[in-house]
Amino acid sequence: MIQRNDLCWCGSGKKYKKCHLLSDQAQLIEKQKGKGGRVKNGLIKTAEQIEGMRAAGAFNGELMDYLRPFIKAGITTEEINTLTHEYTIKHGHTPACLGYNGFPKSLCTSRNNVVCHGIPSPSERLTDGDIVNIDLTTIVRGCYGDSSETFFIGNVSDEARQLVHVTAQALILGIKAVKPGAPLRAISEAIEPFVKSQGCSVVHQYTGHGIGMKFHENFTVYHHIDRDCEPIVLQPGMTFTIEPMVNLGKYEVVTDRVDGWTVTTKDGSLSAQFEHTLCVTEDGCEILTLTPSQREKNIILNVEGKYYD
Ligand code: MF3
Ligand code: CO
Ligand code: CO
Repeated sequence: MIQRNDLCWCGSGKKYKKCHLLSDQAQLIEKQKGKGGRVKNGLIKTAEQIEGMRAAGAFNGELMDYLRPFIKAGITTEEINTLTHEYTIKHGHTPACLGYNGFPKSLCTSRNNVVCHGIPSPSERLTDGDIVNIDLTTIVRGCYGDSSETFFIGNVSDEARQLVHVTAQALILGIKAVKPGAPLRAISEAIEPFVKSQGCSVVHQYTGHGIGMKFHENFTVYHHIDRDCEPIVLQPGMTFTIEPMVNLGKYEVVTDRVDGWTVTTKDGSLSAQFEHTLCVTEDGCEILTLTPSQREKNIILNVEGKYYD
């Protein structure tokens, strides 16, 4: 197959990526829409698998609701880890983060300028004015649910509050772009221009992902517009996460050299994130990581009492 940096097949002498790559991808998508086809095998879950993921997602939502009242000034992120771990085990489930590629704890806690993969620690105490993302992933009978929310600790600055709401809105816009027949890249096309219009930036280095019987599977869900986005057409039964990380400053990030996990903004600016696991349906998508009560009330996100639907 022709690669991005090869010379284009048309004989223009330009690299493929600078010439026909985008129009070829667009044509491929049109062709697949016509025959309801797929680019890769194994993207479509069975009804039983989706049912299992719904149970995992509901548990993940329930766990978030359980933690919610504890996420206040004075608690350490280690204590949040203990609460998460014990609640999960008590219900007979498995915290997916623990031991995943060597990750040492049962959830990620990412505070202020930490973009993602923050490691809970007894020396990290939440204090007034912080924002903190709680990223939970649970395995329920072999199926995965993955979701995250950013919380305000006490009184936060106006810019922090605005960043968090822009990020929540970015996830909502991404979710609304999910329908059968839409290209995968429609998600990034809904998210990135909006975030930029608000003066913030979308992190490039970390993305959403296919999910199901594995934590990260099948394909990458970009939140920023990227030429490497695969020409996949969304079809009923595909399951994946959308989880935009939005920075108040520039999009570049750095990973801690010592712990190998903690990702921070390069410029030190604040970062926020929200995440849900979704399944494409006949007319849009179903959010799998909701509690029964959120489902019933049609609430997608709860940001300190402001509901997004
Ligand atoms: N939950 C994260 C995600 O949304 C992944 C965390 S991996 C871990 O994809 F190893 F850091 F836990
Ligand atoms: Co995820
Ligand atoms: Co996650």
